Amino acid sequence: MIRHINKYEIYQVKVIYLLCYLPKRNKMKTIKSLTIGEIAIERPESIALFEKYQIDYCCGGKQTLEAACEAKNIAVEKILIELQDIDSEDNTTKDPLQLQPIELIEYIQDNHHQFIRTAGPVILETFSKVVDQHARKHPFLTEMSTLFYELHVDLLQHMLKEEKVLFPAIRQLMGAAKPDDMKIPDGMKLNFPVSNMEVEHERAGRLMDELRRISGNYALPEGSCITWQNLYTQIDAFEKDLHRHVHLENNVLFSAAISL
Ligand SMILES: [Fe+2]
Ligand SMILES: [Fe+2]
Repeated sequence: MIRHINKYEIYQVKVIYLLCYLPKRNKMKTIKSLTIGEIAIERPESIALFEKYQIDYCCGGKQTLEAACEAKNIAVEKILIELQDIDSEDNTTKDPLQLQPIELIEYIQDNHHQFIRTAGPVILETFSKVVDQHARKHPFLTEMSTLFYELHVDLLQHMLKEEKVLFPAIRQLMGAAKPDDMKIPDGMKLNFPVSNMEVEHERAGRLMDELRRISGNYALPEGSCITWQNLYTQIDAFEKDLHRHVHLENNVLFSAAISL
Protein backbone atom coordinates (compact mmCIF):
# COMPACT_ATOMS: atom_id res chain seq x y z
CA MET A 1 0.00 0.00 0.00
CA ILE A 2 1.37 3.42 -0.95
CA ARG A 3 1.84 5.79 1.98
CA HIS A 4 1.59 9.47 1.13
CA ILE A 5 4.25 11.70 2.58
CA ASN A 6 2.74 14.43 4.69
CA LYS A 7 3.67 18.12 4.61
CA TYR A 8 5.78 17.89 7.76
CA GLU A 9 7.88 15.07 6.30
CA ILE A 10 8.44 17.07 3.11
CA TYR A 11 9.53 20.03 5.24
CA GLN A 12 11.97 17.79 7.14
CA VAL A 13 13.47 16.45 3.91
CA LYS A 14 13.80 20.00 2.57
CA VAL A 15 15.62 21.15 5.71
CA ILE A 16 17.93 18.12 5.75
CA TYR A 17 18.76 18.72 2.08
CA LEU A 18 19.48 22.38 2.72
CA LEU A 19 21.58 21.60 5.76
CA CYS A 20 23.68 19.26 3.69
CA TYR A 21 24.16 20.99 0.38
CA LEU A 22 24.48 24.54 -0.79
CA PRO A 23 23.24 24.80 -4.36
CA LYS A 24 25.66 26.31 -6.88
CA ARG A 25 29.43 26.12 -6.71
CA ASN A 26 30.03 24.63 -3.25
CA LYS A 27 27.82 21.64 -3.90
CA MET A 28 29.75 19.26 -1.69
CA LYS A 29 30.31 21.67 1.16
CA THR A 30 27.79 21.59 3.99
CA ILE A 31 26.07 24.89 4.50
CA LYS A 32 26.70 24.59 8.22
CA SER A 33 30.43 24.64 7.61
CA LEU A 34 30.25 27.86 5.57
CA THR A 35 30.62 31.26 7.14
CA ILE A 36 28.03 33.98 6.62
CA GLY A 37 30.55 35.82 4.45
CA GLU A 38 31.06 32.74 2.25
CA ILE A 39 27.31 32.30 1.84
CA ALA A 40 26.97 35.98 0.87
CA ILE A 41 29.66 35.43 -1.77
CA GLU A 42 28.21 32.17 -3.10
CA ARG A 43 24.62 33.40 -3.02
CA PRO A 44 24.57 37.24 -3.30
CA GLU A 45 20.78 37.05 -3.14
CA SER A 46 21.17 35.94 0.49
CA ILE A 47 22.26 39.48 1.39
CA ALA A 48 18.66 40.76 1.29
CA LEU A 49 17.74 37.97 3.69
CA PHE A 50 20.60 38.80 6.05
CA GLU A 51 19.52 42.46 6.00
CA LYS A 52 15.93 41.44 6.75
CA TYR A 53 16.97 39.51 9.87
CA GLN A 54 19.80 41.92 10.75
CA ILE A 55 22.36 39.13 10.48
CA ASP A 56 25.78 40.74 10.23
CA TYR A 57 27.36 39.30 7.07
CA CYS A 58 30.13 41.90 6.75
CA CYS A 59 32.00 42.46 10.04
CA GLY A 60 30.43 39.27 11.41
CA GLY A 61 31.08 37.41 8.15
CA LYS A 62 33.49 34.95 9.75
CA GLN A 63 30.85 33.24 11.90
CA THR A 64 28.79 30.30 10.70
CA LEU A 65 25.14 30.67 9.74
CA GLU A 66 24.21 28.47 12.66
CA ALA A 67 26.12 30.60 15.18
CA ALA A 68 24.71 33.83 13.75
CA CYS A 69 21.15 32.50 13.93
CA GLU A 70 21.68 31.30 17.47
CA ALA A 71 22.94 34.73 18.52
CA LYS A 72 19.85 36.35 16.99
CA ASN A 73 17.52 33.69 18.37
CA ILE A 74 16.35 32.77 14.88
CA ALA A 75 15.78 29.17 13.78
CA VAL A 76 18.45 28.35 11.21
CA GLU A 77 15.91 26.22 9.32
CA LYS A 78 13.76 29.31 8.74
CA ILE A 79 16.67 31.09 7.05
CA LEU A 80 17.54 28.03 5.00
CA ILE A 81 14.01 27.66 3.71
CA GLU A 82 13.78 31.35 2.82
CA LEU A 83 17.18 31.17 1.18
CA GLN A 84 15.95 28.41 -1.07
CA ASP A 85 12.78 30.30 -1.88
CA ILE A 86 14.60 33.38 -3.14
CA ASP A 87 14.42 33.29 -6.89
CA SER A 88 17.91 34.10 -8.00
CA GLU A 89 16.62 34.75 -11.53
CA ASP A 90 14.98 37.92 -10.25
CA ASN A 91 18.15 39.19 -8.70
CA THR A 92 19.11 42.37 -10.54
CA THR A 93 21.88 43.43 -8.20
CA LYS A 94 25.11 44.17 -10.04
CA ASP A 95 27.53 41.41 -9.16
CA PRO A 96 30.99 42.77 -8.30
CA LEU A 97 32.06 39.35 -7.07
CA GLN A 98 33.17 38.40 -10.55
CA LEU A 99 35.74 41.20 -10.56
CA GLN A 100 39.47 40.70 -10.11
CA PRO A 101 41.00 42.51 -7.07
CA ILE A 102 42.26 45.50 -9.06
CA GLU A 103 38.86 45.99 -10.71
CA LEU A 104 37.15 45.41 -7.39
CA ILE A 105 39.15 48.26 -5.83
CA GLU A 106 37.94 50.57 -8.61
CA TYR A 107 34.38 49.32 -8.12
CA ILE A 108 34.51 49.95 -4.34
CA GLN A 109 35.91 53.45 -4.78
CA ASP A 110 33.54 54.43 -7.61
CA ASN A 111 30.44 53.04 -5.94
CA HIS A 112 30.68 52.63 -2.18
CA HIS A 113 33.24 55.32 -1.33
CA GLN A 114 31.51 57.74 -3.65
CA PHE A 115 28.15 56.86 -2.09
CA ILE A 116 29.40 57.68 1.43
CA ARG A 117 30.86 61.00 0.24
CA THR A 118 27.58 61.93 -1.43
CA ALA A 119 24.99 60.50 0.95
CA GLY A 120 26.77 61.41 4.22
CA PRO A 121 26.41 65.22 3.87
CA VAL A 122 22.81 64.82 2.65
CA ILE A 123 21.92 62.80 5.77
CA LEU A 124 23.67 65.33 8.02
CA GLU A 125 21.65 68.11 6.40
CA THR A 126 18.42 66.15 6.94
CA PHE A 127 19.43 65.47 10.54
CA SER A 128 19.91 69.18 11.10
CA LYS A 129 16.34 69.92 9.93
CA VAL A 130 14.80 67.10 11.98
CA VAL A 131 16.77 68.03 15.10
CA ASP A 132 15.69 71.68 14.74
CA GLN A 133 12.06 70.70 14.49
CA HIS A 134 11.73 67.75 16.85
CA ALA A 135 14.68 67.34 19.23
CA ARG A 136 13.04 69.33 22.02
CA LYS A 137 10.30 66.73 22.27
CA HIS A 138 12.50 63.79 21.14
CA PRO A 139 16.01 64.44 22.54
CA PHE A 140 17.36 61.11 21.25
CA LEU A 141 17.49 62.77 17.80
CA THR A 142 20.38 64.96 18.94
CA GLU A 143 22.26 61.89 20.14
CA MET A 144 21.60 60.17 16.81
CA SER A 145 22.80 63.19 14.89
CA THR A 146 26.04 63.34 16.88
CA LEU A 147 26.62 59.62 16.37
CA PHE A 148 26.02 59.84 12.65
CA TYR A 149 28.42 62.79 12.39
CA GLU A 150 31.05 60.72 14.23
CA LEU A 151 30.42 57.76 11.92
CA HIS A 152 30.70 59.91 8.82
CA VAL A 153 33.99 61.52 9.93
CA ASP A 154 35.37 58.07 10.82
CA LEU A 155 34.40 56.71 7.43
CA LEU A 156 35.95 59.63 5.53
CA GLN A 157 39.26 59.05 7.33
CA HIS A 158 38.96 55.30 6.89
CA MET A 159 38.40 55.58 3.13
CA LEU A 160 41.43 57.85 2.78
CA LYS A 161 43.60 55.22 4.48
CA GLU A 162 42.29 52.61 2.07
CA GLU A 163 42.71 54.81 -0.99
CA LYS A 164 46.15 56.17 -0.06
CA VAL A 165 47.76 53.16 1.64
CA LEU A 166 46.04 49.79 1.43
CA PHE A 167 44.65 49.87 -2.11
CA PRO A 168 47.95 51.13 -3.60
CA ALA A 169 49.78 48.40 -1.64
CA ILE A 170 47.47 45.75 -3.13
CA ARG A 171 48.04 47.19 -6.62
CA GLN A 172 51.81 47.18 -6.07
CA LEU A 173 51.88 43.56 -4.86
CA MET A 174 49.81 42.60 -7.90
CA GLY A 175 52.17 44.42 -10.27
CA ALA A 176 49.58 47.05 -11.20
CA ALA A 177 50.83 50.14 -9.33
CA LYS A 178 49.73 53.56 -10.58
CA PRO A 179 52.42 56.23 -11.08
CA ASP A 180 51.42 58.26 -8.00
CA ASP A 181 50.79 55.27 -5.71
CA MET A 182 52.68 55.27 -2.41
CA LYS A 183 55.49 52.67 -2.50
CA ILE A 184 55.50 49.96 0.17
CA PRO A 185 58.74 48.38 1.46
CA ASP A 186 59.86 45.16 -0.24
CA GLY A 187 58.57 42.00 1.46
CA MET A 188 55.86 43.82 3.39
CA LYS A 189 52.76 41.73 4.10
CA LEU A 190 49.32 43.26 4.30
CA ASN A 191 48.04 41.45 7.41
CA PHE A 192 48.59 44.47 9.66
CA PRO A 193 46.90 47.19 7.55
CA VAL A 194 44.09 44.77 6.70
CA SER A 195 43.40 43.95 10.34
CA ASN A 196 43.44 47.69 11.14
CA MET A 197 40.81 48.29 8.48
CA GLU A 198 38.73 45.40 9.83
CA VAL A 199 38.82 46.90 13.32
CA GLU A 200 37.57 50.20 11.88
CA HIS A 201 34.79 48.37 10.04
CA GLU A 202 33.71 46.85 13.34
CA ARG A 203 33.60 50.27 14.96
CA ALA A 204 31.48 51.62 12.09
CA GLY A 205 29.18 48.61 12.47
CA ARG A 206 28.82 49.30 16.19
CA LEU A 207 27.92 52.94 15.53
CA MET A 208 25.28 51.86 13.00
CA ASP A 209 23.90 49.37 15.53
CA GLU A 210 23.79 52.10 18.15
CA LEU A 211 21.83 54.38 15.79
CA ARG A 212 19.35 51.58 15.20
CA ARG A 213 19.04 50.93 18.93
CA ILE A 214 18.53 54.56 19.93
CA SER A 215 15.85 55.02 17.28
CA GLY A 216 13.99 51.88 18.41
CA ASN A 217 14.78 50.14 15.11
CA TYR A 218 13.97 53.32 13.17
CA ALA A 219 10.41 53.38 14.44
CA LEU A 220 8.71 56.60 13.41
CA PRO A 221 6.46 58.25 15.99
CA GLU A 222 2.86 58.86 15.06
CA GLY A 223 2.44 61.96 12.94
CA SER A 224 6.13 62.20 12.07
CA CYS A 225 6.87 64.65 9.27
CA ILE A 226 8.06 63.74 5.77
CA THR A 227 11.59 64.98 6.56
CA TRP A 228 11.87 62.60 9.51
CA GLN A 229 10.58 59.74 7.34
CA ASN A 230 13.12 60.67 4.67
CA LEU A 231 15.86 60.71 7.26
CA TYR A 232 15.20 57.12 8.29
CA THR A 233 14.92 56.02 4.64
CA GLN A 234 18.28 57.67 3.93
CA ILE A 235 19.96 56.06 6.95
CA ASP A 236 18.52 52.67 6.03
CA ALA A 237 19.99 52.97 2.50
CA PHE A 238 23.30 54.14 4.00
CA GLU A 239 23.42 51.14 6.34
CA LYS A 240 22.64 48.64 3.57
CA ASP A 241 25.30 50.15 1.34
CA LEU A 242 27.83 50.06 4.18
CA HIS A 243 27.10 46.37 4.79
CA ARG A 244 27.72 45.53 1.11
CA HIS A 245 30.83 47.70 1.08
CA VAL A 246 32.35 46.05 4.16
CA HIS A 247 31.36 42.60 2.89
CA LEU A 248 33.24 43.18 -0.38
CA GLU A 249 36.29 44.38 1.53
CA ASN A 250 36.43 41.96 4.48
CA ASN A 251 35.26 38.80 2.78
CA VAL A 252 36.52 39.26 -0.77
CA LEU A 253 39.22 41.90 -1.31
CA PHE A 254 41.04 41.60 2.02
CA SER A 255 40.95 37.81 1.92
CA ALA A 256 42.76 38.02 -1.42
CA ALA A 257 45.13 40.74 -0.17
CA ILE A 258 46.50 38.85 2.84
CA SER A 259 47.53 35.96 0.62
CA LEU A 260 49.68 38.20 -1.62
FE1 LIG B 1 36.14 51.01 1.69
FE1 LIG C 1 36.79 49.76 4.51
